[in-house]
Amino acid sequence: MYHLRRIGVAVILILLTWLGLTSLHKHLDPNTHKSDEENEDARWIATSQYWLDRQACRWMGLCGLAHWHPDPAVRPWNRKLEDRELQEILGGEEEGQVEADYVDWDHIPGDGERLRPGDWVGDTRVLKDVPQFVLDHAPLIHLYSGEQFWPSDIREHLAHTTAYSNHSALNISHLDLNNLHTLNEGRRGRDLFMHSKEDVEVRPEWLGSAYNKPIPYDDPDPEDEPEEGELEFVEEDAGEAPSQEELETWFDPYGAGKKQKVAQPLPNNYRSPRADLRKRLLPEMPKPGGYSPAPAVLVLVDKGDGILDAFWFYFYSYNLGTTVLGIRFGNHIGDWEHSLIRFQNGVPKAVFFSAHSGGLAYAYKAVEKGKGEGREGRPVLYSALGSHAMYAQPGKHPYVLPFKLLADVTDKGPLWDPALNYLAYHLNTSITHGADAKSLTNLPMSIMKESLQPAATNPKAPMGWWWFKGHWGDKFYDLGDPRQWRFVGQFHYVNGPLGPRFKNLGRSRVCQSRGECRIVNSLKEGKKRSWIG
Ligand SMILES: *[C@@H]1O[C@H](CO)[C@@H](O)[C@H](O)[C@H]1NC(C)=O
Ligand SMILES: *[C@@H]1O[C@H](CO)[C@@H](O)[C@H](O)[C@H]1NC(C)=O
Ligand SMILES: *[C@@H]1O[C@H](CO)[C@@H](O)[C@H](O)[C@H]1NC(C)=O
Repeated sequence: MYHLRRIGVAVILILLTWLGLTSLHKHLDPNTHKSDEENEDARWIATSQYWLDRQACRWMGLCGLAHWHPDPAVRPWNRKLEDRELQEILGGEEEGQVEADYVDWDHIPGDGERLRPGDWVGDTRVLKDVPQFVLDHAPLIHLYSGEQFWPSDIREHLAHTTAYSNHSALNISHLDLNNLHTLNEGRRGRDLFMHSKEDVEVRPEWLGSAYNKPIPYDDPDPEDEPEEGELEFVEEDAGEAPSQEELETWFDPYGAGKKQKVAQPLPNNYRSPRADLRKRLLPEMPKPGGYSPAPAVLVLVDKGDGILDAFWFYFYSYNLGTTVLGIRFGNHIGDWEHSLIRFQNGVPKAVFFSAHSGGLAYAYKAVEKGKGEGREGRPVLYSALGSHAMYAQPGKHPYVLPFKLLADVTDKGPLWDPALNYLAYHLNTSITHGADAKSLTNLPMSIMKESLQPAATNPKAPMGWWWFKGHWGDKFYDLGDPRQWRFVGQFHYVNGPLGPRFKNLGRSRVCQSRGECRIVNSLKEGKKRSWIG
């Protein structure tokens, strides 16, 4: 009897703690708007066929408890992989297997819809080049040493996914980077999903894209070797914080009371100190250190008055969430990350690091710089294990309260130089100037087509994918799906992300969100500011 009562009290205490944690999380979460996933709550819960599961989910936030299973990054028991490895050893090719082809971007056949040089309204000149100062200050990315999900090629990703409207297949074939935008017609972007053809829990090869791991450098910086245990935090001298007058010229070009000027003020007398170092690589050339076969995407936005925003987008086929007490949360198929380097008259001023739904902006001077030939003076960014969120330094970065439950981790793993392989475009966001538009989304196609133009380095770069309104991965699985669960408001699987056009490229200040935007002036200060919206 005594024991029974003790057990009863313990159960009640655990339940109260659980409910307390759940409401504390809700209270502390700065994101007040409901996520797309939360908006479908009633429908989602109803997909479970078990009454007990539905009630536990509704009243206690314990959804899909019976579904819990370990979700390791690598599946050692993966039969399919073994079969494939055997095939490789035998030298045979699997039938029906999509070939990962690495055709140079310049050689992609056209679809007849593409702009030709001079077609851009208001631009009588030929296609614009990528200014050398953008490449000379291009980011260098330290991927995590133990990463399992490496950069992916969006073209290969599309080959392994198929178009869905919510959870039903649309049965449309022949979708590629040139025509992906045709899916938008008559459909709402939020209902469109590029759904994985294979079960991602089987960990098909393309999901991890291990073949896109950057090539190691011949001259590794001794400091770049991953250290054992806790990583030391090195404080760099960031110098003076920019003065108010200085900030006013580049921090908020469309800010209150400012006249919008769209000009072509980029210096053309700029001489690159090492222009010869990064010539375009031809397919037959041996690839240098830092090269990844997965191209990054560079989008240049001229904001007028000498201000140029260089957006670098990084794509990964899978985002593996973090674990808490052995339970994994936040997986999704398709992962778009970005960083922004803002230039004023060819001089880099600030770097924005995207992380989850927010990120942090640093003064350019404050950010760690690369070392070694072709890397000096370039900003170093760290991509977190699994989530690929971007940070300015190695270490642990908690992002979900309470009690720093979920944390990202970064280290000096393989260094990726996206300037060695990228697709470059110029985007004209003048239509949204002054509004800090969240996205160029509800504009007529004719106007949109005029606003994106490939750079002269890749005149035939595909454009359809840019205008795709939908998600780059599966819709979050139903509660009735054995892969799904949700505890303390955190899902095992969430929606695949929308594309880079939804990342507020018309932004006036360097931050992605319209809320607070403060320039961090030292790495030490950045360390204290985590979970910024
Ligand atoms: C997709 O799901 C959403 C949310 O349940 C619903 O509002 C929408 O109508 C669905 N779209 C289609 C095309 O079925
Ligand atoms: C796609 O094909 C499947 C199987 O053939 C079918 O069940 C489904 O209704 C089709 N979807 C559409 C939108 O036509
Ligand atoms: C952007 O488009 C507008 C309107 O079409 C044009 O006036 C402006 O010059 C363009 N900006 C750039 C940087 O080409």
